Amino acid sequence: MPIARWAFNIRQPLLLENVEPLVTSLTEDDKPNIVPVSNLLNFLPKVECDRLLQFRQEDDMKRALIGRLMIHAFFVAHHGCRWDGLVFARSDTNKPVLTSPEHLKNVSFNVSHHGDWVVFVGDTSLESTARLGVDVMDFQEQVQGESFETFSACFLDQFTSREMQFMKDADKDPKALSSTRNQLRRFYRMWCLKESTVKALGVGIDFNLKSFEFLIQDVNETVKPVLSTRIEVHEPTSEFPEEGWCFEEALLDDRHCYAIAAQAEMEGAGTMMDGSLIRQFGWNELLEDAVPYPSSFS
Ligand code: COA
Ligand code: MG
Repeated sequence: MPIARWAFNIRQPLLLENVEPLVTSLTEDDKPNIVPVSNLLNFLPKVECDRLLQFRQEDDMKRALIGRLMIHAFFVAHHGCRWDGLVFARSDTNKPVLTSPEHLKNVSFNVSHHGDWVVFVGDTSLESTARLGVDVMDFQEQVQGESFETFSACFLDQFTSREMQFMKDADKDPKALSSTRNQLRRFYRMWCLKESTVKALGVGIDFNLKSFEFLIQDVNETVKPVLSTRIEVHEPTSEFPEEGWCFEEALLDDRHCYAIAAQAEMEGAGTMMDGSLIRQFGWNELLEDAVPYPSSFS
């Protein structure tokens, strides 16, 4: 298995049985078997807890928390690390990077969270020099009654004219129930592709998003991953080559889509994706190797 691809639905309740005996507190009176996810802050270093505690919305905290737990679970499962022996920092563009253990600091991984889902991708090989990025979107989130033209006018800086045309052409689909809805779905699909690519590159939000574009061959997105989408890089450089890219796109359910971008110099990223369904996690799998960080609240 060349890359790990994991998805976690944040709506699954955290039950006492998922965390015993790791966590002994504290259920809510009216839901005796359900544990608040804030109990899981124990499993992260203090610097992460402090960041997570600043979120005002519980769902935001939950998504970010699960993302961090997935990163830990990945390095334990695929690289034999101790859960509480991992040290992370942020790059100058805010991308999380592993700083210890030293020999793993080039292992590429990435997380995205939106709506009901957190999606993770990580390189299981030590030899590979792949760069990985992922993005998930809830495409139901939209302004009711707004036309696609009005909505998309705000995004002319982000998409090329060919990409815009691909979105608009959704109204030509005779099977479409609502052309605006289908156009928006194509918009979010394209968005995920762009975002996963800039995340694989690790660049900041000031990156020129029209300097590359996508050619989508399989128009229908399905639960089964599509691997046929291609990228054109307008002015390739060594940092952002045109070669070696591969993309995986799929639906997680009827309102969420994701894209994974992988770029690898030597062998190309094509061998990293096999078209299998992304692996969906439950709490038991996520917390299987979790141990508390002793100093979290000291
Ligand atoms: N590169 C790669 N990954 C990054 C990153 C960077 N520069 N900065 C943060 N990340 C990671 C982090 O793990 C972060 O989660 P965490 O902070 O909880 O650990 C995660 O990516 C966030 O990804 P996602 O959930 O998809 O958030 P986002 O889509 O709101 O933001 C950004 C993604 C921060 C990487 C950035 O690209 C951004 O702000 N993009 C929006 C701007 C835009 O115009 N996008 C164009 C799409 S057409
Ligand atoms: Mg995103």
